[in-house]
Amino acid sequence: MSIAPDQLTTPRQDFIAAMGNAATGVTVVATEGPAGRFAQTVSAMCSVTADPPSLLVCVNERSPLAGAAARNGHFAVSVLSAEQAHVSDVFAGRPAAGAPYDFGCADWDTLDTGSPLLRGAAAVFDCRLGDAVVSGTHRVLFGTVTAAAVSPDARPLVHHARTYGTHRPL
Ligand SMILES: Cc1cc2nc3c(=O)[nH]c(=O)nc-3n(C[C@H](O)[C@H](O)[C@H](O)COP(=O)(O)O)c2cc1C
Repeated sequence: MSIAPDQLTTPRQDFIAAMGNAATGVTVVATEGPAGRFAQTVSAMCSVTADPPSLLVCVNERSPLAGAAARNGHFAVSVLSAEQAHVSDVFAGRPAAGAPYDFGCADWDTLDTGSPLLRGAAAVFDCRLGDAVVSGTHRVLFGTVTAAAVSPDARPLVHHARTYGTHRPL
């Protein structure tokens, strides 16, 4: 039995279109250590459990962040604020101005692990790496949160249908 090309491609296209209609927050995941300093824009971030505080991020294996975070053994997650859409584009490799993946586009702090945390972010999580699982093209990194902080006045950046926005209560 042969499978027509459209049978192979349509589910993938439907998946991408459907995911595009799911609004998400936007984070920058970063690491710094013996394996180097790298960061990547990531919308695939979610809480795992509060006991112990932990989260997960899904990072494409092609990103140098995936291997570096595993070797450094830690990473940090910065939840972008509405004023930081340009930072999302820099770490997605498509800046409107300046160089892609350039840490000079923003100011950074560190907490426990030494991973870079974005100043002015809506929330930040510093994490030690727990499990790491490869699934298809992506590596799922589980992080045990060693420190977290929130900027209560910051509005979160939201991504929907390939555009940026922010949350407005109904
Ligand atoms: C809003 C947004 C969310 C993204 N979320 C993720 C993500 O969760 N995981 C990931 O590996 N890449 C994510 N990316 C993609 C990467 O940041 C980057 O754009 C991509 O790796 C570059 O793709 P290319 O090598 O095909 O040009 C996201 C990009 C944007 C703009």
